[in-house]
Amino acid sequence: MQVVVTGGAGFIGGSLVHALIGGGSEVTIIDDLSTGSIDNVHPAAGFRRVDVTGPGLAGAVAAGRPEVVVHLAAQVSVPVSIVDPELDRRVNVEGTRAVAEAAVAAGARRVLFASSAAVYGDPAELPLTEESPTSPAVPYGHSKLAAEGVLAEVLRPAGVDFACLRFANVYGPRQKAEGEGGVVAQFASRMARHESPTIYGTGAQTRDFIFVADVVNACVLAAGFDGVLALPGATGPVYNISTGRATSVNTLAEGLRVAMRYPGAIDRADARPGDVEESVLSPEKAERVFGWRAVVELQTGLGGTAAWFTQQR
Ligand SMILES: NC(=O)c1ccc[n+]([C@@H]2O[C@H](COP(=O)([O-])OP(=O)(O)OC[C@H]3O[C@@H](n4cnc5c(N)ncnc54)[C@H](O)[C@@H]3O)[C@@H](O)[C@H]2O)c1
Repeated sequence: MQVVVTGGAGFIGGSLVHALIGGGSEVTIIDDLSTGSIDNVHPAAGFRRVDVTGPGLAGAVAAGRPEVVVHLAAQVSVPVSIVDPELDRRVNVEGTRAVAEAAVAAGARRVLFASSAAVYGDPAELPLTEESPTSPAVPYGHSKLAAEGVLAEVLRPAGVDFACLRFANVYGPRQKAEGEGGVVAQFASRMARHESPTIYGTGAQTRDFIFVADVVNACVLAAGFDGVLALPGATGPVYNISTGRATSVNTLAEGLRVAMRYPGAIDRADARPGDVEESVLSPEKAERVFGWRAVVELQTGLGGTAAWFTQQR
């Protein structure tokens, strides 16, 4: 399969490209290296340092002759989206429009988009399903939701199949300590340096933590899926990519402490305003439609993450 991966030099993209190339695909990465790293770029991948909002995008996508485009490049930081919502909108909404238009022009048959649990905002019901109301609490969530709409607007009339994969809190090797879902990376990088991590609030707040290999597998399966992902229907072509399990930040910190063999303290601080109290997403639809489900147990994923952060020390 010929695949173009935007954001392929990032945390999730780096692992995805390794998996695609390992499976025999030819991959072209498009990334401006704003948060990604050249160290994450697979040597067998084509690499183009291009901004998805810039003039070189259409040519770079066309040069990859993609059957599938996986669009991961994004402004990923929630705090940045609050400070500079215009930048967030430009990269996440207009960048997605440009990628979708370039995919159509290049003759791609499918586009996969990295959306986010942030589109749901503070959940009114748990677990969140694709039919739950969307009510983003931060500009990043708004831009991801708007991007889903842009894909439908551009790709449906062109007859290009697409899916918006709403990732829960992804963690694993290569993740930077900043950014969305970065709590595991923050804790692990501090523990690796023998510095105490800080839990904000009681630590009873829950998240749906998913190991990066499971997310990568979802993208690989969706990319190669024989059927149609953009099924007509009320919920649109959106799929939660999650474990369906709620894990408290306290449980996470203790699991990581074991995995990192960290003997030190864990600090406590006041809860941060706006933090969602509980989050868990049902992954049932992705399993039903394209046969994916998360298989990595939390402690196994934390072990793999700990090994990587320990090496970076
Ligand atoms: N990590 C998570 O928990 C999580 C959760 C939900 C959704 N997502 C989404 O998954 C995708 C990948 O996120 P990640 O965690 O790997 O973050 P990341 O920052 O490691 O990856 C993003 C990549 O996109 C590149 N990029 C950013 N702006 C660009 C631009 N204008 N042009 C070209 N390249 C650009 C960056 O250099 C980086 O390599 C993003 O779309 C993110 O919103 C991540």
